[in-house]
Amino acid sequence: MNKVLEVPAEEPSRGSITCVGLGMTLGSHLTPIARSYIEQADVVFAGVSNAIVEQWLQRMHKDVRSLQSNYGEGKPRSKTYLEWVDLMMTEVRTGRRVCGVFYGHPGVFAWSPHKVIEVARSEGYDAQMEPGISAEDCLYADLGIDPGSHGCQHFEVNQLVFFKRRLDPTAYLVLWQVAMIANESISKADASAPYRQLLVDRLSRDYPLDHEIIVYRAATLPIEEPRIRKATLRDIATIAMTAEETVVVPPAQAPQRDEEFIRRMEAIRSMHEKPVSA
Ligand SMILES: C[S@@+](CC[C@H](N)C(=O)[O-])C[C@H]1O[C@@H](n2cnc3c(N)ncnc32)[C@H](O)[C@@H]1O
Repeated sequence: MNKVLEVPAEEPSRGSITCVGLGMTLGSHLTPIARSYIEQADVVFAGVSNAIVEQWLQRMHKDVRSLQSNYGEGKPRSKTYLEWVDLMMTEVRTGRRVCGVFYGHPGVFAWSPHKVIEVARSEGYDAQMEPGISAEDCLYADLGIDPGSHGCQHFEVNQLVFFKRRLDPTAYLVLWQVAMIANESISKADASAPYRQLLVDRLSRDYPLDHEIIVYRAATLPIEEPRIRKATLRDIATIAMTAEETVVVPPAQAPQRDEEFIRRMEAIRSMHEKPVSA
C-alpha cells in the first residue's frame, strides 16, 4: 500500500532581533558574524551616526532603515531611544528577522539594543547581541593602555555629577559622553562648557587640577588617524570637544600596599608549603 507522504505545513516565521556592532572604523571592524546577520535579516535598522556608514550598509541589504530621523533638537534622547525600540519591535512582532546595527559595540553605553533584547525576550521572541569593537577597545590599542596594569574604571559622565560615586585615582578613569554632559537632547556639544566646570570640580576631589588627561577620538574612516590630545584636568571645562570623543584620566597616585591582606596571604602560603610529616 502506498504511503501518503505528508508535507509538513510551513512553520510560520518567528520574529527575532539581533543587535550587532559595526566597530568604530568603517569597513575594517565588522565581524563575519555581524555581516551575516545583516545580510540575512528581513529588515535592518541603522543606529549609526553618519550617512556614509548608512550608504555602506545599504550595499549589504536593500531594506536599511535609518534611526537618525528620530532625533530632534530639544527632544529628549531617552524618548528617541524608546522610539527605536518600538520601531524594531513592531517588525519583530510581525514575524520578521530584524537586525539592529549600531556603531562600536551595540551594548557599550547604548540603551536601545539592551532594551529591545529585553522586551523581545519577555514576549517570547529570539533575541541576542553580537559584540563589536568599541571606542574602549580602540583606545587600549591607540593609547597603549592595558587595563590590567593599573585597573580601569568607566563612567558615563552624568553618573559622576549626579551621584556620589567613588573614584580610585590609582587606576585609569575613562569618561564617556563628556561633551554631552547635562544634555538630554542633541543640541550643540559646546554648550556643555559651563556644566563641564562641575565635572572638573568633582574630579578635583580626587585628582590635582594640573593632572594630565587625554582627549581621544578613534578613527572612524580607514583613511583617518586616531586623534590624541593631551591637556590638563582643569582644561576639561573649556577645551573644545565633540560628541565623538572620550576623556582618559591616567592614574594620579601609586596604589598603597595592604599590609593586613599581604600578611594573611603569606600565612596561607606558609601553611600550604609546610612539609607533610609522615
Ligand atoms: C552613546 S556612546 C556609544 C559608544 C559605542 N557604542 C562604542 O561601542 O564605543 C557615545 C560615546 O562613545 C564615545 N565615542 C563615540 N565615538 C568615538 C570615537 N570615534 N572615539 C572615541 N570615543 C568615541 C564618546 O565618549 C561618546 O560620547
